[in-house]
This record gives sequence, C-alpha cells and structure tokens, in this order.
Amino acid sequence: LAALAAPAQAQDFPGSAPIVAVVPFAAGGPTDKVARDVTAVMARHLKGQIVIENVGGAGGTIGAKKVATARNDGHTVLIHHIGMSTAPALYRQLGFDPLKDFEMIGEIADVPMVLLGTKSLPPDNFKDLLPYIKANSSKLFLANAGIGSASHLCGLLFMSTIGTQLGTVPYKGTAPALTDLIGGQVNLMCDQTTNVAGQIKAGVVKPYVAMQSTRIDAFKDIPAAAEQGLPGIEVKIWHAMYAPKGTPPAVVEKLSAALQAAVQDPVFRGKMEELGAQAATGERARPDSLRKHLGNEIAKWTPIIRAAGVYAD
Ligand code: MLT
Repeated sequence: LAALAAPAQAQDFPGSAPIVAVVPFAAGGPTDKVARDVTAVMARHLKGQIVIENVGGAGGTIGAKKVATARNDGHTVLIHHIGMSTAPALYRQLGFDPLKDFEMIGEIADVPMVLLGTKSLPPDNFKDLLPYIKANSSKLFLANAGIGSASHLCGLLFMSTIGTQLGTVPYKGTAPALTDLIGGQVNLMCDQTTNVAGQIKAGVVKPYVAMQSTRIDAFKDIPAAAEQGLPGIEVKIWHAMYAPKGTPPAVVEKLSAALQAAVQDPVFRGKMEELGAQAATGERARPDSLRKHLGNEIAKWTPIIRAAGVYAD
C-alpha cells in the first residue's frame, strides 16, 4: 500500500508544505549563501516553497544529524559542504553515517578559499606575513567555524604547511567570525570567497593568499599559494544536497532534477562566478555522482585527519 502511495506522493510533491533546507552553519555565511541562491531556483522548478533553517554548531554536524533523523518525506533536506566527508574522522561520537543515513541528491558548487587578515595586522603582503606570524604566534588567533568546518580544515592545512601553531577561535559559522575579524577581535581567518567577496572589494579585510595553486578568476590580484612558496595547497570547498535515508526514490529524483536545473541556470551560475565560485555541472548534481564523490572524499580525508591526530570529541 505504501508503495502505491509513493507515486501519488511524488506526483504531488512538494505540494503546499514548504521544503525545509537545513544549513548547518549560521545565517549570512558562505554555506548559507550557496543554499539560498540554489534553493531560490529549485523552488521555481518544483513549483513549491523552500525555506532555509540555520542549525549551527560542531562544524556542521549538529545540523547534519538533525536531517539524518528527520521525516523522510522529501520536505527536509540538508545543504552541507566538504565537512560531510571529514566528520567521520573528526567525530568519534558522530551519531550518523554520511553514506548510510542519507539519500544523495547531488552536488551544488565549488568555492575557493582565501587567507585573510584583520585590517590592523601590520604585514601588507604574504612575504612579510610569514615572519610576522612566526614571531607573534602566541599572540595571534585564527578564527574558524568549528572543528570540521571548511575554515578549520583550511587553517589546519595552512598551519601545518608553515610549521606554526596559532590559537584558534571557533564560531557557529564564518559570518559571525568575519564580524570579529573586521573588528580585530581575531587576527586571521581562512574563508570562502562566497562570504568575503564584498569585504575584500570594500577593503575592510586584508586578503593575503588564495589557498590554491592558481589565482581565483574573480580575484586576480590575490596571489595564489603556489606563487607564495606554499606548495601543495589546493583547497576547494564542494557543496551538496542530501535527504534523510528512506526518502522515496521518485521524490529524490524530483529534487535532483530541480537541482540539476538550478546548477545549469545562467543566473545561479553567474552569481557563483561573481563570487569566485563555480556551480557544479548537471552530471555532478545527480545522486549516483554525489554518492561516488562523497565516498572518495571520506576515503581521502580520513587518513589525513587520522595522521594529524585531530579529534573534535
Ligand atoms: C565553514 O568554514 O565551514 C563555513 O564557512 C561555515 C559557514 O558557512 O559559515
């Protein structure tokens, strides 16, 4: 009988009830930005309403856990990033399995990261920043969005590459962290360009280096890590959408079809490019592609994190 109901459920999906898209970080941050832009287009294709619910904390795992145990009728989805693949190695009591407890919908966008300083930080370029960090490491604080967040991983990579540990200050997202970076309460932060594009253009923060081997098209004047003698730094934050395990396949297909249309929408693609990001291709916005990618990313990050001996709990 349930199987018979599924097609009707899928045909009417989403109906008048809004779809809740959980963003596991504070409002106004980079994950929230990608979520709001992609769901605005998806809602049109689904002829329904999608509302964002920000559930921050613990590097995105609190929001992810909420969706893992939500009703699997298609009216709750998760929009998360690379942190979905690092959480299993970082959290011993994670409380969910990213591959087993979710249906895959598809990938959304890739976002580059930049190392930023507060305006009052004396060095004006990366060459001067490195000796300054080494000489003042006990007094400098690096902000992030919690263990397992993109900003945390990028900060880990940066500190291990330069061989210097800094104090770190976790926030529920890099939106609140950016406020403190601008205010000078923290000194440095690795963040996604979707969050800091406006502040870089307004000159209220100091962008030192793009955390990848090539310059970011929308920010050509920020030198790339490879140019600054930081070998092997290639941080790109991928974002994807998930639904609770057991969401009917026909509903998953409808959600993925709307996501594929959204990532190919010229307005969404243009918004991402303006912010230095890149919308996923239609093929990547499919469930099977995301399942493969997530599996590969978990396999890639687990040994790296285990070797670093970093745990969140
Ligand atoms: C992160 O560092 O994981 C993200 O920037 C968090 C956020 O979207 O605020």
